[in-house]
Amino acid sequence: MSFFARLGNWLSGLLDPEPPLSSLPDLRAAPGNAASVPAHSGPIAAIPARPAPAVSPSRSLSSGRTRIHSAFDAGMPVENRAGLAGRARELDRLVEAVLEHGKHGIVFGARGSGKTSLARVFGDMADEAGATVLYNLAGGDIDFSELCRPYLVELLSIPGEGIRRVDVQPLLTAPFDARQMATILAEKVRRPTIFVLDEFDRIETHATKTEMAALMKLLSDMRSPVRIVAVGIAANLEDLIEGHPSLRRHIVSVPIGGIETEQLKALLVRCCDAAGLTIDDDAAMKIARSAVGSPYHLRLFGANCAIAASRAGRDHIDDTLVQQGLLDAYSEWGALSPRAAALVVDLQRLPKPTAMAIAVICLAAAMRTRIERDEVTLVLNEDGHDDATIAAAFAALSPILHASAIEGSYYFDDTLAPQFYLLVYNRRIDPARIKPAGFDDLRNILERGVRDQ
Ligand SMILES: Nc1ncnc2c1ncn2[C@@H]1O[C@H](COP(=O)(O)OP(=O)(O)OP(=O)(O)O)[C@@H](O)[C@H]1O
Ligand SMILES: [Mg+2]
Repeated sequence: MSFFARLGNWLSGLLDPEPPLSSLPDLRAAPGNAASVPAHSGPIAAIPARPAPAVSPSRSLSSGRTRIHSAFDAGMPVENRAGLAGRARELDRLVEAVLEHGKHGIVFGARGSGKTSLARVFGDMADEAGATVLYNLAGGDIDFSELCRPYLVELLSIPGEGIRRVDVQPLLTAPFDARQMATILAEKVRRPTIFVLDEFDRIETHATKTEMAALMKLLSDMRSPVRIVAVGIAANLEDLIEGHPSLRRHIVSVPIGGIETEQLKALLVRCCDAAGLTIDDDAAMKIARSAVGSPYHLRLFGANCAIAASRAGRDHIDDTLVQQGLLDAYSEWGALSPRAAALVVDLQRLPKPTAMAIAVICLAAAMRTRIERDEVTLVLNEDGHDDATIAAAFAALSPILHASAIEGSYYFDDTLAPQFYLLVYNRRIDPARIKPAGFDDLRNILERGVRDQ
């Protein structure tokens, strides 16, 4: 069987629409159900080991939720290697290329794919191997000197690092370029040192990116033991190499794609366990598959299902609670990305083949770090879709899907969107139950704001 035929089979397995869910009970509508309490209302209490049955409903609700939030925390990167699901291959690649081979690293992937988590765990491993590891976050219209100065300041404060204030004084007070920075580092730093630069994609100033590329090249040419690991979403990191083809020899690029479903499911079960909850095997599989490789979505979906359980006064997650939790996750996302969320619902009304072609594009985005139009077209052609349908799918997505600097390659401006499209496409949530973000949400926000004064 050809690769594309196998891929086609795999896709149809993932894309099999499930029966519509509209016949299912709406937990929130049930009279007297705790589900009517908004997710973020009420004070957060200290964490008990388990919500005790004797306490009043409101107290057990908030303490149980605190435990859920800390178990599923979708906002915090993984702290250590034990908490990292999958990623053994990516870590090996970074360790070998950066620590053993002395290359610079580029870690890139979609929002929430686990770039910072991977970079942190790699940093710990580098630290254990005797390297000095320094982290910095990039942002906005920062210039090259501002971006690099914190590394110099940090190096100054580390005893035995070899850099003295007198060496770097001019760079602490006036702007400098890549050559000045590289010269100091090459002359003074003797120990293996790694600068991790997270959120590289947020740098808006082109000159800063160009200088950073130049710094990487110069450090390699000068045989400095300082290595840079830049972390960000795909499109901008590709820009970095695009302008400097000769940099490729000195760089390892580590794409952060999707994590396998079984590993996501195991992660979900661990999170449930930490939250004091159990989950049906089928329900866990449904959440893991809905996350389509993304640990962020897995935690977000899992947290919402767990909160739905807590609202219903239950400590076991079944299919009904999963449907509610996924719907809540969608609403949460929709409140932050109303344009994308509204489009996702509209897209379901397109002819079936176009909606299916969009699902394949979304899968490509979720599983890979970028969408190659040729690749998607090949898969869809093999599946019997004509070019007009594929063009219609790209056109329909155009408000949220953009061409990248690399020809034929596309990216979602909200990289969390593909999983939410697939949730609705697969009828894991019923489009009829999605409330458009609007007056209600604003009223909730205002009410919360007034109450918090
Ligand atoms: N390999 C993993 N195993 C378990 N959880 C993970 C893994 N990778 C990421 N996560 C979880 O997914 C969420 C997002 O991770 P992280 O912040 O590392 O992603 P990111 O790609 O850096 O996101 P962003 O693009 O927003 O900076 C966090 O809750 C983190 O704990
Ligand atoms: Mg990050």
